[in-house]
Amino acid sequence: MVLLPTILSSDMARGETVVNMRKVTHRPVQVALSGAVVLPCVFTLRPSPSHEPPRIKWAKVWGERGPGGTHREQSILVAKDNVVKVKKAFQGRVTLPGYPENRYNASLALAGLRSSDSGMYRCEVVVGINDEQDTVPLQVTGVVFHYRAPHDRYALSFAEAKHVCLENSAVIATPAHLQAAFDDGYDNCDAGWLSDETVRYPIQSPRPGCYGDREDSPGVRNYGTRAPSELFDVYCFAEGLRGEVFHTTVPERLTLAMASTHCHMLGAQLSTVGQLFLAWQAGLDRCDPGWLADGSVRYPINQPRRNCGGDEPGVRTLYHNPNRTGFPNTTNLFDAYCYRGMLLV
Ligand SMILES: *[C@@H]1O[C@H](CO)[C@@H](O)[C@H](O)[C@H]1NC(C)=O
Ligand SMILES: *[C@@H]1O[C@H](CO)[C@@H](O)[C@H](O)[C@H]1NC(C)=O
Ligand SMILES: *[C@@H]1O[C@H](CO)[C@@H](O)[C@H](O)[C@H]1NC(C)=O
Repeated sequence: MVLLPTILSSDMARGETVVNMRKVTHRPVQVALSGAVVLPCVFTLRPSPSHEPPRIKWAKVWGERGPGGTHREQSILVAKDNVVKVKKAFQGRVTLPGYPENRYNASLALAGLRSSDSGMYRCEVVVGINDEQDTVPLQVTGVVFHYRAPHDRYALSFAEAKHVCLENSAVIATPAHLQAAFDDGYDNCDAGWLSDETVRYPIQSPRPGCYGDREDSPGVRNYGTRAPSELFDVYCFAEGLRGEVFHTTVPERLTLAMASTHCHMLGAQLSTVGQLFLAWQAGLDRCDPGWLADGSVRYPINQPRRNCGGDEPGVRTLYHNPNRTGFPNTTNLFDAYCYRGMLLV
């Protein structure tokens, strides 16, 4: 769990308002995918014999308030005295760990973090007609991706699976990483190694050859623990980008060797697969296949459109064979995706 640093605000207005919230200057809290966090919300009430118990409301909020604003909110939880009601979409994932002991501690614990949990969280305390609120930004970092060996499907032992993830700026994903990606809609019908030596794959829409954990419902299919010498694909997890990924090309386009040289000329190097996925997650959108460091050819799509590889956002991979195996011949001509690390000043 990550506990946020809190900076107490001045005691200004203490005694003038009924609800006094210990507001903090919040920088976005960054937590890795599948992790847990405690979002702070601590307040005091002006002493008064007539108070009813305060009512606490946590919500996720988007956009601007006011006329013409795009404000939207999703309720997470309400609490009053000893009743805590968690909304369905958050059941099993949120609690108020400090509240049973202290009714003035409404800090929210959120576990099994998904990418879609990133955003603004508002804590509101209502006492009679008095109301006070605070907002905490949360950013869930990292992305899960499927990786297939250069020459064929299901060609990686467990040791090789861990190795290809490391070579691509990532680590082998944990079952919790894959579950968090599945909870956000990830669907991929390729059995892949995970860190606990199990082999699994996430299925949203069961179809012949691609069933989830049960025949007719979505789920993460689990083949269980396998011998490390067995061969599968792998799911990797890339956590953070400490530089930039950019697209580049020349008019006659580039072989793999030329692409590598071209990136070097630009003070960069060919991007790894993990780096490209992180750049995609941060918004990179480019319908031009380009070489990456592992000799694969891919391109990042955030706004699906015609002739850009399907209806879902994602990183597209070009394979040599119609059965989606084999990286392209290194002499073929494509663009390139380069990565430039952040300069330390
Ligand atoms: C509020 O509850 C959280 C979660 O249990 C705890 O970490 C924090 O120390 C509490 N803060 C106060 C001021 O009691
Ligand atoms: C895919 O096709 C290639 C070339 O035709 C073949 O060598 C390979 O074994 C096939 N892989 C699978 C998993 O069918
Ligand atoms: C790649 O392409 C070159 C030139 O077209 C050809 O000579 C070579 O055999 C190809 N290599 C493979 C592995 O297909």
